[in-house]
Amino acid sequence: MKKSMNDDVETVENNHNRSLTTFKMILSGLLVGLLGVVTSHVWAQTAVDSYIATESPIAQAGLLANIGPSGSKSSGARPGIVIASPSHQNPDYLFTWTRDAALVFQWIIDQVTLQRNPSLRGQVENYITSQANLQQVSNPSGTITTGGLGEPKFNIDLTAFTGAWGRPQRDGPALRSIALITYANWLVANNNQTFVTNTLWPIIQRDLDYVASTWNQSTFDLWEEISSSSFFTTAEQHRSLRQGATLATKIGQTSVVQNYNTQASNLLCFMQSYWNPSQGYMTANTGGGRSGKDANTVLTSIHTFDPEAGCDATTFQPCSDRALSNLRQYVNSFRSIYNINSGIPVNQAVATGRYAEDVYFGGNPWYLTTLAVAEQLYDALTVWNKQKSLEVTSISLPFFQQFSSGITVGTYASSTSTFTTLTSAIKTYADGFVAVVAKYTPSNGGLAEQYTRDTGTPTSAVDLTWSYAAALTAFGAHAGQVPASWGAKGLTVPTTCVRGGGTGGSTVSITFNVHAETVFGGK
Ligand SMILES: *[C@@H]1O[C@H](CO)[C@@H](O)[C@H](O)[C@H]1NC(C)=O
Ligand SMILES: *[C@@H]1O[C@H](CO)[C@@H](O)[C@H](O)[C@H]1NC(C)=O
Repeated sequence: MKKSMNDDVETVENNHNRSLTTFKMILSGLLVGLLGVVTSHVWAQTAVDSYIATESPIAQAGLLANIGPSGSKSSGARPGIVIASPSHQNPDYLFTWTRDAALVFQWIIDQVTLQRNPSLRGQVENYITSQANLQQVSNPSGTITTGGLGEPKFNIDLTAFTGAWGRPQRDGPALRSIALITYANWLVANNNQTFVTNTLWPIIQRDLDYVASTWNQSTFDLWEEISSSSFFTTAEQHRSLRQGATLATKIGQTSVVQNYNTQASNLLCFMQSYWNPSQGYMTANTGGGRSGKDANTVLTSIHTFDPEAGCDATTFQPCSDRALSNLRQYVNSFRSIYNINSGIPVNQAVATGRYAEDVYFGGNPWYLTTLAVAEQLYDALTVWNKQKSLEVTSISLPFFQQFSSGITVGTYASSTSTFTTLTSAIKTYADGFVAVVAKYTPSNGGLAEQYTRDTGTPTSAVDLTWSYAAALTAFGAHAGQVPASWGAKGLTVPTTCVRGGGTGGSTVSITFNVHAETVFGGK
């Protein structure tokens, strides 16, 4: 390479005068330098693009393999039942969790309703039937009318799981209703309101009535460890009631609308109280005695993303100043604790896990949390590009300073070089998190729950369905795909927060269980 360059220069020198030669030498040096930058950027991009191209079909097949009745790794699961993982011991994840199943089916429903893969409609229909049945199963959390909807997990033959567990987990009914409302909205728009009114609405209303009447009671968090209030749960409950009120209005179920809207406003108010203004992050749980920096909050941002809501901070949109500041704090909390992150500069991607204090299964990085960081950044980029500007506030300044030390507070239009510099650096940063996952994906493409903090070897449950869903949603966000809007735009936060009441405004007993920590399971 170097030899042939010298040859070129000599040829030039033979034919032209000296100053032109010098000029050409400088120019060629510049070109080589430029080419080097462009090439390494393209290489990084190509590596991520090619990982996504190979991993996408593997993730989709892995996800579908874990759904009954015909999934190849979920034998014994009833139709529409998502197993968490085929792992039957150490850990035993051969159960169905309402949360995991809803997140998995949110992806499937998006494939159907956004016309990406209409052939998955049969799966959605199985899911609807399975959840209608599960709602009826009496379990240790109660019956269908006495709290049973908050039961976190069931056996895959649709019977109750009766062992000790961290229950209830109140995010389940919220996430399930959000998934079903997404499908219902699509059916209504496609002349199938009959099915919505007769079949879907009763299932959705049971979950939403549960959310509306119990949101102000303590819950185990999504990691099943802390019983208190949890940001992910509160935010999903807020979203579910907003969407529920809109759907109810649309299909003439007007009796619930006022209560759902009232409780949604109370929830939006409550959501703000998780913000830690002095340190700039969302505290994941009101109990638990940890720092509160937790993937809980990043998952909230991507799973309440509304592409019409801009960079709204009150609903914690991915490009909001609060969510970006939070993301920086969350990511940085893992830089010094995992050996596989050592030596990586502070503005580059690293492996991330649930929270720094985690000890479950060795307290390792997780695939789905590392992918969530990439997804939040891709969502942010999509909105900035769509609105043709990006705002740096005093809250998000430290986040943006990672990519440009001289950046100052202000709004940068897409025509400015600052916008281009920042968005391209943030795209590279986002790709970096996918590249971390790619680096620690085994050659067969299987995604377990975790990869070890010392060597990045897959560990804990194999073929975690949620890991596959997380890969697919992150890949979609990388391609600029957005979900349907859910009504986050232009909401106002009430000036005083009101405690939740039961339907019709009656009061409910409020249970505080602060600092009750248990270690039942990882998920
Ligand atoms: C309405 O949607 C349901 C659920 O997907 C489906 O089973 C039914 O065939 C649809 N009906 C019509 C008329 O399209
Ligand atoms: C209930 O709501 C009030 C008002 O928003 C809030 O201060 C309190 O922490 C909530 N409690 C639980 C357990 O959600």
